[in-house]
Amino acid sequence: MYGNFELKAEPLILGIESSCDETAAAVIRGGRLLSSVIISSAEEQAKYGGVVPEIASRAHTDAVDDAVLRAVKEAGVTIKDLDAVAVTYGAGLLGALLVGLSFAKSLAYSLNVPLIAVNHIRGHLAAAYLCGEGLKPPYVTLLASGGHTAILHTESYTEFEVLGATCDDAAGEAFDKVARILGLPYPGGPNVQKLAEGGTANIPFPAALVKNSGKMQFSYSGLKTSVMNYCHNCAQRGEQFNPADVAASFQVAALEPLVKKTVECAKKLRADTVTAGGGVAANGYLRARLSEECQKKNLKLILPEKKYCTDNAAMIAAEGLIQYRAKNFASLDINAAAQIPLK
Ligand code: KG4
Ligand code: ZN
Repeated sequence: MYGNFELKAEPLILGIESSCDETAAAVIRGGRLLSSVIISSAEEQAKYGGVVPEIASRAHTDAVDDAVLRAVKEAGVTIKDLDAVAVTYGAGLLGALLVGLSFAKSLAYSLNVPLIAVNHIRGHLAAAYLCGEGLKPPYVTLLASGGHTAILHTESYTEFEVLGATCDDAAGEAFDKVARILGLPYPGGPNVQKLAEGGTANIPFPAALVKNSGKMQFSYSGLKTSVMNYCHNCAQRGEQFNPADVAASFQVAALEPLVKKTVECAKKLRADTVTAGGGVAANGYLRARLSEECQKKNLKLILPEKKYCTDNAAMIAAEGLIQYRAKNFASLDINAAAQIPLK
């Protein structure tokens, strides 16, 4: 019979992530990360200019056992030592999620250990706990990924309040769109950043912030359109534009409001710590500006390493530990969810 688990103070947790194009597995003991393996199908996806769900599902099927076996081996433990299996159950591509989830269910069942169903976004937030800086709530987080852009107040390990969010597209999505406009290959975000490094932010694109709405709201659709119109208008007039300047100007318009509002929120709430998470938090310009502004305002900034900002399983194991301690275990009949509200 599945159940009756023996709970440990410092459990050995396997994390599995397969929501998009990365098949990842990681092992933590207590809060200490022992291994993190990522097998990416990004190169294959790049041929199609973006993630093809069917290719992602097949790539996960091929890679999931390898990722798990390598993570366990690199952690210096065996499968039988595991005390829990944490896995992303949503949000993401349904077929892709099902590969990781089915694998995790079978493993948890065969070892008779708890299955922990992790919300991918909560995983991104938990990445900050991997920094080894003894992070403890409360703190303010900037979350910026391919699907979400928000500023959150984390009040306890399991509860957060949304202080402000995008009213349309996410920051990561805007980076991917601008990459396509500029003819850059997938994945868009890192390529826009690279191009921007050689440019000057001299084009006045509209900042990704809704003014006078009475609440804190970001907006990326107007900015995306503005970049597109700028490039089209130049082409129509037969004028050359400098793609590096477009990338640099877009980056400033997209990221400055996030930096400004995150710091403002932390000061207003008298929080002394700021964290960031999600793929866009790997952006070099954002990281540098956040650290400058936090330093000016005397705020402690805890930034996960870049490899723990983009999709990985270490963050899923870290969130798994939080849920383990809250005894929030999933039933084996839990299903994958393509969408989960932020809150
Ligand atoms: O968190 P993530 O890996 O996946 C989601 O959960 O969405 O975020 C992916 C997003 C993509 O839109 C990607 O273009 C963006 O993060 N991204 C970046 C950078 N690295 C990844 N955006 C800007 N600069 C980067 N260096
Ligand atoms: Zn993600």
